Amino acid sequence: MRAVSGKTRVCGIFGCPIGHSFSPAMHNVAFEHLGLDWVYVPYSVEPGSLPSAVAAVKSLNLAGVNVTVPHKQEAAGLMDNLSPAARLSGAVNTIVNSKGKLVGHNTDGEGFIQGLRESTGIIPNYGATIILGAGGAARAVAAALALNNMPEIFVSNRTSSKAAALAELINNNTDCKVSVLAWPECYRESNLKEKGKWQEILKRVSLVVQTTPLGMHPRENEEIPFPFNFLCPEHTVVDLVYNPSYTNFMEQSNKYGARVLNGIGMLLHQGAIAFKLWTGLEPPIEVMRKALHSEIARL
Ligand code: ATR
Repeated sequence: MRAVSGKTRVCGIFGCPIGHSFSPAMHNVAFEHLGLDWVYVPYSVEPGSLPSAVAAVKSLNLAGVNVTVPHKQEAAGLMDNLSPAARLSGAVNTIVNSKGKLVGHNTDGEGFIQGLRESTGIIPNYGATIILGAGGAARAVAAALALNNMPEIFVSNRTSSKAAALAELINNNTDCKVSVLAWPECYRESNLKEKGKWQEILKRVSLVVQTTPLGMHPRENEEIPFPFNFLCPEHTVVDLVYNPSYTNFMEQSNKYGARVLNGIGMLLHQGAIAFKLWTGLEPPIEVMRKALHSEIARL
């Protein structure tokens, strides 16, 4: 255990619950590797307490914090400034204390893009993307894709009004064209019109991103009624779930030849980007990756 002194720079994470976060392991190992006198502390911040916790970033002179469930959207309203991705997605997962001014960033979406680039070499500005889900993760991914010049996105969500709200947000603020696609449940019910539409759209799509908690431990057996048989080797399918690290959704997609990725890349890179924002240094990616994998192996 490293000694903490009056000179130690402190950053951390605000969330509730926070006990299972992988971020402390990932960041502390990175600080140690670079010989930095920094420490990363998990803070349990109850719903309702975020404004006072954010005020403490200034009063305690923390270098910055990550923000996680359930505070990401509320945090956006408490910042002095927002990055373009945070403004567009309406959510903040990283706060930087810049000489007493709090700047809110959203590194989840950019983390997703970097994870994708690293694994596939894909620069996601061609073809189109289908996003399953319209919650916080879907917003971050949609905003990042739109800011990275993805021309077209289809959002499919169980509650279609939420998909419509996400589509409106991106359509009104970027050049990306976003449309709502019926949740594939209707495909399972043999609705031929919808089935044809999915088939047609999947011909234009290069990327499918699964952002719902379906298939995540302990819901491994909950299926997503996706028309897997319309997939082919031209498709890249990313399931943002990382526990289990190989989901049913990935397995089914891979059966039809699609290239499949889990959510570990996004998790790693959102942390690495936050590290760089706080320290100004290149993050030791491989050290952080190793720490993340050993945390996940312990689940
Ligand atoms: P996150 O921040 O991880 O994205 P969230 O904001 O709570 O979490 O969003 C969860 C997403 O998963 C939503 O799109 C949700 O669909 P609804 O908008 O219809 O609630 C989706 N989701 C959760 N459970 C689901 C289920 N059993 N079937 C289909 N979609 C589900």
